Amino acid sequence: MAVISTLVTSLPSLSHLALYAFLALGVSVILNILNQLFGPKNTKAPPVVFSWIPFMGNAVEFGVSPIKFLQSCQKKYGDIFTFYMVGRRVTVLLGADGNQFVFNSKQNLSSAAEAYNHMTKYVFGPEVVYDAPHSVFLEQKRFIKAGLNSDCFRQHVPMIVDEVVDFFKDFKKPSGTFDAYHTFGSLIICTASRCLMGKEIRANLDKSVAQLYYDLDQGFQPINFIFPNLPLPSYRKRDAACKKMAEVYSGIIQRRRRENDNTNSDLLQALMDANYKDGSPLPDHHIAGMMIAVLFGGQHTSATTTAWTLLELAARPDLLRALREEQIAKLGSLKTDLTFENVKELTLLENCVRETLRLHPPIFQMMRKVIADSVTFEKTGHEIPKGNFLCAVPGVTQVDETYFNDPLTYNPMRWVDLTDPVHAMEAGDDANVDYGFGAVGISSKSPFLPFGAGRHRCIGEQFGYLQIKTIIATMIRLFDLELEEGKSVPKSDYTSMVVVPEKPANIKYTWRE
Ligand code: HEM
Repeated sequence: MAVISTLVTSLPSLSHLALYAFLALGVSVILNILNQLFGPKNTKAPPVVFSWIPFMGNAVEFGVSPIKFLQSCQKKYGDIFTFYMVGRRVTVLLGADGNQFVFNSKQNLSSAAEAYNHMTKYVFGPEVVYDAPHSVFLEQKRFIKAGLNSDCFRQHVPMIVDEVVDFFKDFKKPSGTFDAYHTFGSLIICTASRCLMGKEIRANLDKSVAQLYYDLDQGFQPINFIFPNLPLPSYRKRDAACKKMAEVYSGIIQRRRRENDNTNSDLLQALMDANYKDGSPLPDHHIAGMMIAVLFGGQHTSATTTAWTLLELAARPDLLRALREEQIAKLGSLKTDLTFENVKELTLLENCVRETLRLHPPIFQMMRKVIADSVTFEKTGHEIPKGNFLCAVPGVTQVDETYFNDPLTYNPMRWVDLTDPVHAMEAGDDANVDYGFGAVGISSKSPFLPFGAGRHRCIGEQFGYLQIKTIIATMIRLFDLELEEGKSVPKSDYTSMVVVPEKPANIKYTWRE
């Protein structure tokens, strides 16, 4: 006993430990500052943003207000600089040339898989998207793109209208308010499930599937990017949900095959009917993984874009009026059935969504990881070493007055106003490059890239626009919309995977006749 008590008393007490930890932290902060001020500088490397705290770097400033942080760095350091974020070195490349550099980077120089797969593989499952060899992933993208075709879209529009009408039918009469992001999150999971995931998933949305979606979603948060695996319940639930989801899809696929149920216009059927280049069919767990990836690619992005568009419109009665007039002028009346063809004609509506994507891009930055020994940004000659993340930030270029007049104003008309500088931008001819899933359709040099560019460009853009436009076209038929008294369009909340409106983000509705 005496020995134990001597041992215990000779150990440092808790308060001493705290003091040592505090001292160690203080010393490392001072060393970090001295190193940044007086340490050796690599003149070929991009300038490094000053930070007070080692390891964490500028994570807090970036996390709270990334666009402001990056704009202030741009003023100080120019279009290329590196900052530290929780042990990672992130090299930001701004402007049209920065976009082109990141999005056009060759596969052997930088990799999206290295930047994202540590997080996505636990949600999508193995052997799909970034967990597949790049050439296989490009094939998978081609299958998804092929499944999102005009014939399917033609069937999707009435389904979406149906879902919107059904979703709102029990909303209080004659008027009320709803939270924009939450409401469109719930609606879009219904429309996307019905159009893409299949009738079986849609039918179970209120039951088991909703919980699986929720558990997967909890594994797709910013913390999962920083810490892909922690011994916490949310991580265990994520892994279980991923396995269970694969079983659910496998069950549906087998039933469809057994019963020859192959007339479905959903993406699930398109993937069931596809074959890899070597002739082999897609295994069930690949189909399941791709379906989950599609859901995650489209769900929050489309929900927040719809929410932001309606918040912006609720603040602009003139635009809401003009949108109804557009439907009357082009479709004949507000009662004409919406179709794939006539929704395409609603160009003002399209420009409203486009302007939302400019001012509130859901994914405002995109990452790649340098896998070559180094890559050189020709424009400035800076060398970026292996292991750094390359970061393109359309969220900054899209509000840069070099490219847009009065960039902070929501002005859908800029897309038809040829005096806006964006129309004078000289784009590269890389829009026609086909990486294996069809031409990408836009130059990576464009300052407006809410769907990215190059080999990782979004393949859901057309479906995304169609879904959002159909929802809004239906909403403005059903309701008069406005912001709550004294409120303006909310600020951005950057704390989740996509940029959402800061709460409260309510819209006041009044049922129309
Ligand atoms: C890629 C945005 C809807 C599926 C991307 C990227 C962006 C984006 C920015 C590029 C990511 C990067 O380069 O790192 C959006 C927005 C949407 C939307 C703003 C809606 C408003 C959809 C939908 C689907 C989808 C509806 C599925 C039907 C994908 C896929 C990729 C992708 C498969 C490819 C990822 C890669 O190649 O690395 N999206 N997306 N997206 N998106 Fe979308």
